[in-house]
Amino acid sequence: MTLIDNPGTGADRDAGLAPLQFLVQRNLQAKNDAQRAQILENPGFGTHFTDHMVDVCWSVGGGWHRPRVQPYGPISLDPAAAVLHYGQEIFEGIKAYRHADGSIHTFRPDQNGRRLQRSARRLALPELPVSYFIQSLRELIKVDGAWVPDAADQSLYLRPFMFAKEAFLGVRPANKVNYYVIASPAGAYFSGGVKPVTIWLSEDYARAGKGGTGAAKTGGNYAASLLPQAEAYENGCDQVVFLDQDGNVEELGGMNVVFVYKDGTVVTPMSDSILEGITRDSILQLAEDRGHKVQGRAVSLAEWREGVASGDIVEVFACGTAAVVTPIGGLKGRTFFDEQPTGSLALSLREELTDIQYGRREDKHGWMLRLDA
Ligand code: PLP
Ligand code: COI
Repeated sequence: MTLIDNPGTGADRDAGLAPLQFLVQRNLQAKNDAQRAQILENPGFGTHFTDHMVDVCWSVGGGWHRPRVQPYGPISLDPAAAVLHYGQEIFEGIKAYRHADGSIHTFRPDQNGRRLQRSARRLALPELPVSYFIQSLRELIKVDGAWVPDAADQSLYLRPFMFAKEAFLGVRPANKVNYYVIASPAGAYFSGGVKPVTIWLSEDYARAGKGGTGAAKTGGNYAASLLPQAEAYENGCDQVVFLDQDGNVEELGGMNVVFVYKDGTVVTPMSDSILEGITRDSILQLAEDRGHKVQGRAVSLAEWREGVASGDIVEVFACGTAAVVTPIGGLKGRTFFDEQPTGSLALSLREELTDIQYGRREDKHGWMLRLDA
């Protein structure tokens, strides 16, 4: 079973492509072991960055060129750079995990590489070959591998991204684009750790629309989620959930949603306006391996609320690379609060997934890729 039903073309097209020849420029101001250790003691999420970054150029005439690993630092942009005006930007999120023997691994990078290609297609950006995508992660780990934490539940969050750098105010796809990878040591995404989160139902604002960019990982989707996310915080909630124009559940601002029914069926909302999460695909595969029936289909808000009220829905959880798997403990709207049932499946799937990611359990699906060898 796979919910990722729209594979990119690059994996086939780039078979046999010669690797890029990266130029490595060392950061002379790199943190020393003691400074790094201090950061890794309590990395938080997304606030500290490693010493280097990947930077690769693309142009219409020159293709992918000038691949570099260089000191982490500001990017110089022309004020007319297209990304600043029209938001032509995409990104990915993927983690590097340290195993007990010290080796460094990542999880299903081919899937992130393909999703970056699908996002690129939607945003009229160039498709980075999947082999270049994976190579870019390896090149960064080669110089910044010491930043992959070894503490429980910590990882190095890798953030590949690409944007339109051409200085031009006409509205058309840019002819000059750059691809970067930065990395940030990560602990829990939610400051409360794995305890259930409360979700705010966005009744006034949508995240995506039919035919829009909802399935792409592009900054504009997140920009559209910030106001409703602020509303969520004002209402004491941790995250916001969006509906589509027909009243079907889409996803949270940065995570997919999964429902567990009392007959054991595991259901996740599917539509072309939802990001195809690699965590949910993997979690659903693990559930299927255990004998659960798994479905990707439309789930209306009414089905959710009535299912919880009747006891048909026995668990609801959120999942994504940053948040892993987090139970949902409450759904709050302007006029209601529905406590959500808690069960053991979310946490046991989380444990199985993280056991695979940290090398504590057999990787039966061949999902892990070693990055430091
Ligand atoms: N939905 C959104 C909007 C996200 O930002 C993410 C995080 O990447 C996900 C879902 C989950 O995707 P994945 O499991 O691939 O990280
Ligand atoms: C991820 O999980 O990788 C994301 O991009 C989500 C974001 C909210 C950090």
